[in-house]
Amino acid sequence: MIQPPTDRLGRPLTDLRLSLTDRCNLRCTYCMPQALFGAKHRFLPRRDLLTFEEISRVASAAARLGVTKLRLTGGEPLLRHNLAELVTMLAAIPGIADIAMTSNGTLLSAEHALALRQAGLTRLTISLDALDAPTVAAMSGSRISPEQVLRAIDHALGAGFVPVKVNMVVQAGVNEHAIIPMAAHFRHKPVIVRFIEYMDVGGPQDWRHSQVLAAREIHRRLDACWPLEPFDPAPSAHVARDYRYGDGGGVIGLIAAVSQPFCRSCSRLRLSAQGMVHGCLFASGALDLRHALREEEVDDQRLTALLSGLWQRREDRYSELRHSRHDAAQPPVKPFMGQLGG
Ligand code: GTP
Ligand code: 5AD
Ligand code: SF4
Ligand code: SF4
Repeated sequence: MIQPPTDRLGRPLTDLRLSLTDRCNLRCTYCMPQALFGAKHRFLPRRDLLTFEEISRVASAAARLGVTKLRLTGGEPLLRHNLAELVTMLAAIPGIADIAMTSNGTLLSAEHALALRQAGLTRLTISLDALDAPTVAAMSGSRISPEQVLRAIDHALGAGFVPVKVNMVVQAGVNEHAIIPMAAHFRHKPVIVRFIEYMDVGGPQDWRHSQVLAAREIHRRLDACWPLEPFDPAPSAHVARDYRYGDGGGVIGLIAAVSQPFCRSCSRLRLSAQGMVHGCLFASGALDLRHALREEEVDDQRLTALLSGLWQRREDRYSELRHSRHDAAQPPVKPFMGQLGG
């Protein structure tokens, strides 16, 4: 039996986020802006992506160290062919109790949703930033319509993913007008909208504090329409703070990654599509597992030891440091969500 490692701040390792591809069919302005991810951008060649077998080996090693929760992200994870096959492989790993996925929904058919559910995917989160067509088109940098994403949410619910979570990145002056309509639309449905503070990650080079609408303010606006009460079965373990409507209209989440960082309880390790493992969204150091797997041909025991070593050296808490400095400095490393997953 392997002793589960803790990092230098005493945090256990419980979650592994798997970015399956650096590609996405959308160009959200806060993540992969068209100006940086245009026709000239070189995405990873196929051979550089970890194979399903390689991903499963890393996930098994992480499970031996205490990971119970996996999240499939991207880029857009549905761009990986035969995704259900990977889910089947991951679901068979002893110790893995939860396999969630974050997707933009545009490629999710009813059949797809069902196949993923049957393969063992347990939860689905779909990104949607507004309900009005102009805002969705502008923020997604694409010609998608809100209806397309709403259909995907219905497919997910129809396949048995209940509740579905919806991620809305809130940018001051850009889609704050959509907070109340989004909440109103999903009230009394088995959907949890999570309002996310705009973070200094990704492509945009001009992130400023003034573009962040603090979770406290989002809460104030929602509470003024429908009084909210805290509802958090296990607050310390979550990124989102959950609230429920006092009138029984359901649950919402607030993700205050900028104004109230949650590094203290961060138990997440991230595997990029090309096999780099990062201890933090903003970590400069990373472990090249693709090299270890392909060139060094490490066995499972060594793979587990490599992950354990990385975790034991970890002392990252970038969001907390940014918060305590109260400055507008850009982070030392600006990760692309497309490489590291949201
Ligand atoms: P569950 O609790 O498993 O449902 O998922 P989650 O709350 O971790 O949600 P999800 O993975 O959808 O993350 C939601 C958003 O929170 C992401 O898209 C990011 O914007 C932000 N986020 C998630 N994890 C981290 C993290 O470790 N650090 C920071 N700074 N932000 C994060
Ligand atoms: N700030 C906050 N969240 C972001 N995401 C991507 N870029 C950002 C950002 N700059 C998250 C969103 C999206 C997921 C894929 O990544 O939650 O739903
Ligand atoms: Fe694609 Fe999601 Fe990034 Fe938008 S936020 S560009 S949908 S990976
Ligand atoms: Fe975890 Fe880094 Fe995010 Fe803090 S900034 S919550 S340590 S990923």
